[in-house]
Amino acid sequence: MHHDGANALQMNYTQADVSQPILDGLKAAVLLVGADRRVIFMNPAAEGLLETSTQRGCGQDVIDLVPMGMTLQAALIAAEQGETTTLREEVLRAPIQSEEITVDCTVSPLERPLDGPCIIVELNQVDQLARMTRDTTLQERQDAFSQVVRALAHEIKNPLGGIRGAAQLLDSELNDKNLREYTRIITHETDRLSGLVDRLTGGYRASDREPFNLHSVLEHIRKLTLVETPQGLNFERDYDPSIPEILGDHAQMIQAVLNIVRNAVQAMAGRGCIQLRTRVRRQCTIHHRRHRLVVEASIMDDGPGIEPGLRERIFFPMVTGRHDGTGLGLALAQEIISRHGGLIECASRPGQTTFTILLPVEDGS
Ligand SMILES: Nc1ncnc2c1ncn2[C@@H]1O[C@H](COP(=O)(O)OP(=O)(O)OP(=O)(O)O)[C@@H](O)[C@H]1O
Ligand SMILES: [Mg+2]
Repeated sequence: MHHDGANALQMNYTQADVSQPILDGLKAAVLLVGADRRVIFMNPAAEGLLETSTQRGCGQDVIDLVPMGMTLQAALIAAEQGETTTLREEVLRAPIQSEEITVDCTVSPLERPLDGPCIIVELNQVDQLARMTRDTTLQERQDAFSQVVRALAHEIKNPLGGIRGAAQLLDSELNDKNLREYTRIITHETDRLSGLVDRLTGGYRASDREPFNLHSVLEHIRKLTLVETPQGLNFERDYDPSIPEILGDHAQMIQAVLNIVRNAVQAMAGRGCIQLRTRVRRQCTIHHRRHRLVVEASIMDDGPGIEPGLRERIFFPMVTGRHDGTGLGLALAQEIISRHGGLIECASRPGQTTFTILLPVEDGS
């Protein structure tokens, strides 16, 4: 995730000998902006992205150098007040640029012990076309999924009621205890199936909307998971106490996040560390809508990572890497989060898998 780049920079900046190779090697373009908004440092990736050299770039006004217009201006003002802003899918438009490029941009304040405050501007080029295609395909798949589930739920629920009723009648007629064991199995299994259908269709009920804090969701899940998997599982919490409440369906939100946490526990076979982290993001774009305030929650595990062949498809229904999986957990989670106007992103490599949930905070709520 691109924020990690900035964090690494923040930690290492004073140790020039350590930080230089890091900055040179970063794929992200990093610029350091002084108090007067003049660029005082650019790494090689920034030179490449902005098609300029350190000699030419340094000393220029960052607004001229990074042609992003008013959004960057606003983010700089926020950084001067100590706030970090994430701008997603901004287009750099400038006559000097040979073509338009789309970037995700993070603007954050940096306190340097000797030289006073400055600002880090971090730019990550995104292949917008790829992202849009992925978003659209995902949306289409989800719509199809919703329709199939609704149709199936209808077809399954009705006969189930009949089967259960008949089994109960039969049960009351039977005197043989051994035979009644069979009717008990029928009732039990129809209940289980009916519960599964409810779970699947749960996402499509008219949802209850109430204000709640995401920390209550995370804490509920943490306690629940610890009860289910008491040994060898460790949770680390890194909560931002200032995250605002969001408006939504509390029970559904628990279901969505639980699906992600359960996957992590299963992937680590119950042993390992899960980190729960919350942050506030300002000026963040989700599904091409700009939101003033967005709450970010990430769930990170140190398990083996998602199998490479599955990575692109895990949010699609019926995609599973487990022999007893139904492949519905993440499809449902994504569906619930998008009903709340948000999205889930995922980055995975062996030893570190992170699911990041972004949820907009509605103005005036
Ligand atoms: N944290 C993770 N680490 C490794 N693999 C993961 C992780 N999360 C998800 N996966 C992979 O993604 C697949 C899809 O997950 P999803 O929750 O959609 O379905 P499932 O867990 O297989 O089944 P269900 O949740 O319906 O019981 C999983 O089977 C697993 O292979
Ligand atoms: Mg799952």
